[in-house]
Parts: sequence; C-alpha cells; structure tokens
Amino acid sequence: MARELPSSFRKLPAAERRALLAEWFAPELSAPDSDLDRADVLVENAFGWHRLPLGLVPNFPVNGRLYHVPLATEEPSVIAAAAFAGRILARGGGLEAEADPNVIRGQLFLEGADPERWPEAEPQLAAAAAEALQSMERRGGGYRGLGMERLPETQVTALTILADVCDAQGANALNTVLERLAPLAESLLGGRRLMAILSNNSPERLARARFRVGMEHLARAGLSGPEMARRLELASRVAHESVDRAVTHNKGILNGISALALATGNDTRALEAAVHAWASRSGRYLPLSRYRVVAGALEGEVELPLPLATVGGGTRTLPSTAAVWSLLGVENARELRAVAAALGLAQNFAALAALCAEGIQQGHMRLHQRRLGPEG
Ligand code: MEV
Repeated sequence: MARELPSSFRKLPAAERRALLAEWFAPELSAPDSDLDRADVLVENAFGWHRLPLGLVPNFPVNGRLYHVPLATEEPSVIAAAAFAGRILARGGGLEAEADPNVIRGQLFLEGADPERWPEAEPQLAAAAAEALQSMERRGGGYRGLGMERLPETQVTALTILADVCDAQGANALNTVLERLAPLAESLLGGRRLMAILSNNSPERLARARFRVGMEHLARAGLSGPEMARRLELASRVAHESVDRAVTHNKGILNGISALALATGNDTRALEAAVHAWASRSGRYLPLSRYRVVAGALEGEVELPLPLATVGGGTRTLPSTAAVWSLLGVENARELRAVAAALGLAQNFAALAALCAEGIQQGHMRLHQRRLGPEG
C-alpha cells in the first residue's frame, strides 16, 4: 500500500507539495516547476503541469477561408491526417460548415412538487429566468425556453431551462441561474429542490459540415478515384449497419475535435458526452457522418452537437491557449464550432481513405517508428 500523505497535504505551498512527492514517491519531480503557482490557482493539490504536444493543421479550408488549426494530442497521425484531408478537400473547394446558436439546457429537479400548478407557475418562472439571464441577453443570447416533465418512475418533477450562452461554455452561468430560480420554483410548485445542474445533453448546440470533391482527386494506393469513392460510401453504410464500427468511426471524428477542444482549453468530457448521446438519440448508436457518391463526386457530411466556447472555463486561463487563439483567429464560438465540425469530418475522411486503401497501420507505423527511433 502507498504511504499515506499527511492531512495537511492540501494546505502545503505547491512547491513543498511537489518536493514531498519527489522525496516520497517520484524523484522525477525533484526539478522545480517554474509555473507551479499558476497550476495551484487552477486546480486543487497542484504539483505540476501535464504537457501535450501542440501541432498545426495548416491552411485548413472552411467556408472560403484558410484556418491554421492548432491541435493538442498524444496520438501520432491525427494532425498529418487532418492536414492531408484539408489538402485533398481544398481541390473540391474546401468544406462548408455552420453552427446553430450556443443553446444549453439546465435542469432543476423538485421532489414532491405539484405539476397541476404548472400553468400558473410557468409564466412567472419564465420571467424570472429571463431576468436572471439578462447579462447574457445583452450579449445577444439569454433565455430561450422552459419546460416541465414529471419523471414517471421517481415522480420527481424536472424543469428544463434553455439559454443561449453566446461564446461562453455556460456551465457556471446556468448553474447560478438554476440555483437562483430554485426557491421560486419551490414556492410556485411546492416540493423541495433535489438538484440544479446544467445538462450536457446538447441537441440544440448542433454544428454541421459538408464537402463535395471530384472522384478524380481520390485515387490512392493503386485504386482509382471512382473505386475509392465507392469504397468510402460503402464504409459509411457499414458504419450505419454495425454499431462496433460506428463507435470507431465516431472516435475518428473526435480525434480532431477533441484535440481542438483540448488545445482551446474546452471541456472534452462535456463535448464527448454530448456527442455520444446524440449518436444514440434514435435508440441505436449511429455514425455521425455519411458519404455518398453523387454525379462523379464524393459528398461527405457530418452533424453533431458541439458544446465549445471561446470564453470561460479553461479557454483563457491555460497558458498555451493564448497562442492557440491567435493562430486560430476565430471571432466567436459559432465560428469555432463550425471549424470543429469541418475538422471532424476531414479527420473522418482521412481515416476512411486510409482504411479503404492501404490500411491504417502503414502510416501509423511510420510515425510510431519516428517516435521510438529505428530500434522501436
Ligand atoms: C484511430 O485513432 C481512429 C480510427 O480508428 C478511426 C476509424 O477507424 O475510422 C482510424
């Protein structure tokens, strides 16, 4: 069993915490970390930083513009694959993408409430929610709706508030609003608050991307362009038929999007929870993208929820995000989310193209070899 750390551990200055860990467990921590105080402000019991490589997908073509997209990932070939896809898809005019407004859901759960009182309570709760969200309204967002349902098994009453959080992640803002509304909801509907928390289910926060590229640009590994297009369409249909394949297909989409979320200091867990819930919305886990051969070209499209922000959370507090925002040059969260959807589709296209031609291992192994050296 590991030696027990003293109960004062969390109260120690960060440098002392690190020194203690170095002495007791991990001599690797003996070298001081010059940025430790910043880590200490951001999380509890901080003792260092976790670093990931940042790489750039240059000249990534979305909506007639070239973006330089920084990605944070430990996985070799993700960045190379996105850059490759960007180059091929640029030949067809690049990707088009857009994102819906950044509408987030929040839930207030009441135990013992009387749903019969809802018609009277609703306008008052809606007015109070709109008022609590006024600062968001001044930024172009704010209150977007209110709903109520009685959960059949627990008999708990669930109120759902929709709010457009503009460029923010919205978690703190919405949780504050929900907690503020709880006493009013209790007095109007009776019962007591059980929980008040945002939902990571994000079916309102959708983003979409698509491309069309002539088959002549798809020839690869001795396979003709039309044959590659046919294989990509078939691979897309296979992902619709096989759940095992759909999960991996979607993992490939997230390879790019999660790496962008990490690089920009966004919450990758919220993102991935939302994406997988969306993929399962029909009751069956489905792929998020689809490919079709249409009149001499391959068309690809993706639709998925993307809860990504340009302010709030870690987006401005992590030291590396400042350079990431400067490189990326997006004006707002909707633009970020559109670029992310396009990136996910490009990443997926690159993975399928490799899988349906020479196979994934060839490229992977080349990069792996580079990491480990000739002996690896
Ligand atoms: C590997 O990280 C991602 C892939 O497995 C995605 C896919 O199979 O589509 C290559």
